[in-house]
This record gives sequence, C-alpha cells and structure tokens, in this order.
Amino acid sequence: LLVPVIAVDGPSASGKGTVAQRVAAALGFHYLDSGALYRLAALAAARAGVPWDDENGVANVAQTLDVKFDGEHILLCDSEVSTAIRTESIGVGASKVAALPQVRAALLERQRAFAQVPGLVADGRDMGSVVFPQAPLKVFLTASAGVRAERRYKQLLARGEEADLTAITADLHARDERDRARSVAPLKQLPDAHLLDTSAMDIEAAVQQILGWWQAAN
Ligand code: C5P
Repeated sequence: LLVPVIAVDGPSASGKGTVAQRVAAALGFHYLDSGALYRLAALAAARAGVPWDDENGVANVAQTLDVKFDGEHILLCDSEVSTAIRTESIGVGASKVAALPQVRAALLERQRAFAQVPGLVADGRDMGSVVFPQAPLKVFLTASAGVRAERRYKQLLARGEEADLTAITADLHARDERDRARSVAPLKQLPDAHLLDTSAMDIEAAVQQILGWWQAAN
C-alpha cells in the first residue's frame, strides 16, 4: 500500500466522523466517510422502491450509485442528499443493507479508490479489518453507551429533529448489535488497533491523540 491510510473504526455516535475529519484536515489528507456510502445505498434503494432485504436488488443499486462527494455536499444523481442520509430511518436502513455480503462487496472498490496521495483518513466499521487491512495506523474509537446516546440526542436536537433519549439508546443498542453480530465485516477491535475511549475526552484531545500516534509511527 503506497498511500498511507489511517483507519478509524468504532460504534455509532462515538464521534469518529468528526475526529477523523479533523485529523484529515490537520494532515492535509483525504477523508472517507464509509458509513455515508451505506446510507446512500439505503436511500437510493428506498427511492428506487427496492426493499432493504433484497440483497441482489440493493447490491445492484450500490454498484451503480451515481454519487459525488464535494466538500460538505453529497450528491446522489446530482441532487443534494447530505441531510436526507442523516435521518434515523436511513441510519437503520444503512445498518440493514450493510449486513448483506453482496452490498459490501459492491462498495469495496469504491472505498479503496479514496486512497489517494498524500494520504487518507477513513472512518467506519471495517476500515482496518477489510477495506484497508494494511493501514499503518488503526484506531478503535469508542465511548460508553450512555455518552454516545447523549451525543446523538444533542445532535438531533441541534438539527431541529425530534429526539427521545430512551428511543435513541434502544436504537443505538440495536444497531451496534447488528454491526457486531453480522457474519461479514463485523465491528470489532483489532489486535493491532489503538483503543481510544472518548467518554471523558473532548474532540480536540481525541484528534491530538491520533496525531501523536501518527507521528510516533512515522
Ligand atoms: O457510521 P454511520 O452510522 O453513518 O454508518 C451507518 C451504518 O452503516 C452503520 O450502522 C453500519 O451498519 C454501516 N457501516 C458498515 N461499515 C462501515 C461503515 C458503516 O457496516 N464501514
């Protein structure tokens, strides 16, 4: 692997997206939000009337996704969907389609194509295990279930969405279970990944910790 990759994996609402994005900015690296691809596949399937449990159908949708990432903008068939893919319902759909092996296979090369000079920070569930197993730095970023539920709750309120802490806690739990229990690319901490528990840590401290590991490894 010629292009250096920092793989950041972890459960939902652990803060890994924000942290990974800031690490990428600090290093001048590209950034891959792999979860966005599963969300896009779920949204595109819904729009095409393909049920989330139709493995062949969703894999076909995933293979032919017409998507463009342009800074903050995410375009699906040239229409802005950066807000539409962030709803709870699409999050649930994403975690359902992500359990289907053919869907994961359909998105694999698209993810690897993000590894461009001078480097990439990629976040998801299987960045270190499947997509970029040669990554020189792997981080497992997590936080306690209570802290993650609260972060998601505040995020939804800040967006003006309705939020119920009990429902969010249950939803996060169900999604984590699905991500950990599935047979393909389950979420797990790899033996060669650095554990970063951000329960009592702010974003900046988490960013600095990863940058420190990166410097130590180079
Ligand atoms: O990270 P995010 O919550 O946006 O991801 C949405 C869903 O996509 C996750 O719940 C997970 O099931 C799935 N996913 C995955 N592998 C990745 C990234 C996301 O299975 N690398």
